[in-house]
Amino acid sequence: MGVCPMNKESFKNILGVSTTPKRRKPKIRRRVGTITTPNTMATIDTPLPLKPEDMLLDNLFAHLQGNILKGHGREHTANIFVKFTGVPDEVKRWLRCYAANITSCKQQLKENELFKSKNVAGGIFATVNFSASGLKYIGKTITPLDPSFQRGMKGAHIGDPAPALWEPAFQGEIDAVFLLAFHDQAALEDAADKLRADLSSIAIVLTTEVGSALKNDNKDGIEHFGYVDGTSQPLFFEDELATFRENNSGITGFEPLAPLGLKQVLVADPFVPNAATLGVDAFGSYFVFRKLEQNVKGFKTAEKQLALTLGLHGEDVERAGAMLVGRFEDGTPVTLSDEAGLIASGTLNAFNYKNNYRGDGKTDVTGSKCPFHAHIRKVNPRDGSEASHIMARRGIPFGTREEGSFENTDLMPEGGVGLLFQSFQASIGNQFEFLQQTWANNPNFPSANAGLDPIIGESAAHTSTGPFPTKWGDAASNKVASFPQFVNLKGGEYFFAPSMLFFNSL
Ligand code: HEM
Repeated sequence: MGVCPMNKESFKNILGVSTTPKRRKPKIRRRVGTITTPNTMATIDTPLPLKPEDMLLDNLFAHLQGNILKGHGREHTANIFVKFTGVPDEVKRWLRCYAANITSCKQQLKENELFKSKNVAGGIFATVNFSASGLKYIGKTITPLDPSFQRGMKGAHIGDPAPALWEPAFQGEIDAVFLLAFHDQAALEDAADKLRADLSSIAIVLTTEVGSALKNDNKDGIEHFGYVDGTSQPLFFEDELATFRENNSGITGFEPLAPLGLKQVLVADPFVPNAATLGVDAFGSYFVFRKLEQNVKGFKTAEKQLALTLGLHGEDVERAGAMLVGRFEDGTPVTLSDEAGLIASGTLNAFNYKNNYRGDGKTDVTGSKCPFHAHIRKVNPRDGSEASHIMARRGIPFGTREEGSFENTDLMPEGGVGLLFQSFQASIGNQFEFLQQTWANNPNFPSANAGLDPIIGESAAHTSTGPFPTKWGDAASNKVASFPQFVNLKGGEYFFAPSMLFFNSL
């Protein structure tokens, strides 16, 4: 191997990692792409929940990129999208060097533990994902694993606007996306500058999409329409399950552990075909990135109009918006309550639509509380049919807001802000695309004339029309109303997050 094209030490310095050589025990050399000890294999069928300290999983965690099984948790992110231009061998050499900066799942779990036990924040988080064209550029192809991945987002049949209408940076071929994430925005920007400068020897930077977490007064993460986001996720780890049980005591009906286990998000890394013979775990995951712009002023104005149309008054006005999402702004599920403010509302997630939680004998099977077309009900019916379609969402809001723009409609943005939607899954076709096209875009799911998903549904009419209960818990009070589309796709792509061993194969 030639000289590393990038000054790794200075890059690591920017990442906040000490460049002082550490004393190591003589024989344990850990390099990216090196097969780590112990040489024990976990299978993809390992039952959940996982324990971070399980030695049998050490190998799996060490060879898996971070952010897949657990969100990285950093407040600021930069997704740097590139098109390779260097000679393929140079690109490969560069990537092999860069791999030392990638945060493995094992490193992420270690940092989590340090944060919990000693309140030490983790360093800059880094991953790399490749599109089908990017893999082809460096002489790798994946067939026939995921046809949707091969087609790419531009070739997907999911109701998206034509690529010619996307932001220019997303219109052409995108080969790879480099994620950097950190809690300190200025340090993250420095690291992104450095990475872009290093990348210039092998690629053109198409765009950097910057994300920053938004929080409500309760410190829960929200999206730009003001609703708590990120509550419902497939869980993989024991500690996550314990927290879930604590926050959802007394409510049962929906189990958060990934129903397919690790197969929910992981596939065997096709670039390490001899993993089993080598006795190593090499898994990857498919990654979807969508830049979704939100017209906040339009949405909030239409929410008020919807309340008027439905004849909702006083405190009930807030229920209009809640019925679009399926949760009130603070996260309270509409199925559980007719108003916001349930205790632990931002974490309540153990409910389904067929149990009776209020002791009033009424379930929500007829959509009398949460409409069938509410966003969270469209993408997760919670009746078991969702099991193979659930994916791990890792999105973050983008764009800045003026002071007072959450309260004052006049100051609310009509564009320039939104969600950098991101998800990991084992199959783009059966998970992301299925949710978007077969459920969200389908007005007849889960029942005839239920209506399009009013948040993400895409249709030529740009409108969702469906029945809303004007009286909570009373399906006979249903009134049909329309709601325009305020989320617009500005671009995106499908990627593959290979195992750490992939970089060794370059
Ligand atoms: C700007 C666009 C979007 C907004 C504003 C948005 C907003 C939300 C909110 C507020 C929640 C409830 C909190 C939670 O459970 O995490 C949610 C849940 C969810 N969203 Fe979205 N979302 C957007 C795009 C998408 C897309 C593109 C998909 C997939 C095609 C998606 C799939 C989901 C799923 C699967 C859930 C969890 C549902 C559940 O398990 O109850 N969302 N979203």
